Formats: sequence, structure tokens, C-alpha cells
Amino acid sequence: MSEKKSGETSAADAGNHPGIQVSRRNFLQMVGITGAASGLGLPFVGQAAAALALAHAGGVDADGLVSIKLKVNGKAQELKVDPRTTLLDALRDHLQLTGTKKGCDHGQCGACTVHVNGRRVNSCLSLAAMHEGDEVTTLEGLGQPGQLHPMQQAFLEHDGYQCGYCTSGQIMSAVALMKEPCGPANADVKEAMSGNICRCGAYSNIVAAIQQVRKI
Ligand code: FES
Ligand code: FES
Repeated sequence: MSEKKSGETSAADAGNHPGIQVSRRNFLQMVGITGAASGLGLPFVGQAAAALALAHAGGVDADGLVSIKLKVNGKAQELKVDPRTTLLDALRDHLQLTGTKKGCDHGQCGACTVHVNGRRVNSCLSLAAMHEGDEVTTLEGLGQPGQLHPMQQAFLEHDGYQCGYCTSGQIMSAVALMKEPCGPANADVKEAMSGNICRCGAYSNIVAAIQQVRKI
């Protein structure tokens, strides 16, 4: 149960972000000189990420907001957000895409999973300002009523949910899993889905749904 997701906000992830070229020295300088970041009340890594985000996004305006351009579910979006805004809150509160759920808000449950440039990400751990130019897909972008994504259909057919709170994240992870290396066994799927917690314990049905789609 140790799935590592690319959206986890770490200094290493920030330094590896496509389109951002920053040396270790510059990165540390940004952390040191960016007053906005140091005032955020975030832990060091969070401040570092915020500093990098500010630098990447071109700084804050007079209201302390940063402008970011994203493509969300195929549609270009331009947002002005507080630099502390997570991708999760940007999606839910600024774009009203509430299909993505906030569970723990600490990277522990996977309810907030979305795709960024095709890879699954815990959106609660990723600052929106770090996604300038990125392509984001949420559950709303997968399928629609009457035209469901095969994974959504499989979750329905296998009762892969009970309360449904984790389901959006489960489905987004499951769809991303289709493009990842994963062995054929149920145990392999469980390991690959280990970052998505289901308090209702619908795991066996979730695995059945995923295995059905993998056979298509
Ligand atoms: Fe993001 Fe739990 S809400 S991992
Ligand atoms: Fe309730 Fe998963 S269906 S938490």
C-alpha cells in the first residue's frame, strides 16, 4: 500500500517539473528570498514549492494572486488564485468541478486523484500555480451520463463503491493504471491502487471492475 503519485509536493518533484529549469542553488535562493512563500505558514517543502510556483507563474499581482493557465478536461482555463491554492481547491472552488473529492487533504487517501499530463496525481498535494500550461483531467472529463468511460461502467456493473466518496479518485487512479506497468494478478492491482483508500471496504469489487476493463 505504498503507491507514489507524481503530484506529491516535494522538492524533488518540483525540480523535475516539465518546463521548469531550476538549479538546486536557485531553488534554495527562491525559498530564501520569496517573502510571500515564507509568510504562508507552510512547512519548508510547502514554502519551497510555493516559491517555485511564484517564480514560475511570474509573481503575484497587487492583490497577491497569481495567474495560471491550464487546460482542464480539454478546455482552456485561466485562473487567478492565491499562490497557496492547491490544484484540488482550484478545481473544486474556482472551476466548480466538484467530482474530485477532498478526503484527508494530506495525501493519504487518494480521493482527490486527477490526471496531470496523463499521470495520476494527488491534487491536494500539488499547488495550482505549479501547473501552468498543464493538461488536467478530472472525473467530469472521463465520461458523461449515457456515455460513460469503460472504467466508470465497470464500477457500476461490479458495485465498486458503497458511499461513493472515494469513487472518483478510485476511477481516476484505475484509468491511469491502464497505462502503467502492472502485473496480471489481483494482488498486482491492489498494490497499484494502494494509494486509494476506501473506508467502506469495497476493495474486492473495485479490483473486479479494474480487471474487467484490463481484459477489454
Ligand atoms: Fe488528497 Fe486525501 S484528499 S490524498
Ligand atoms: Fe465509501 Fe469507498 S465507497 S469510501
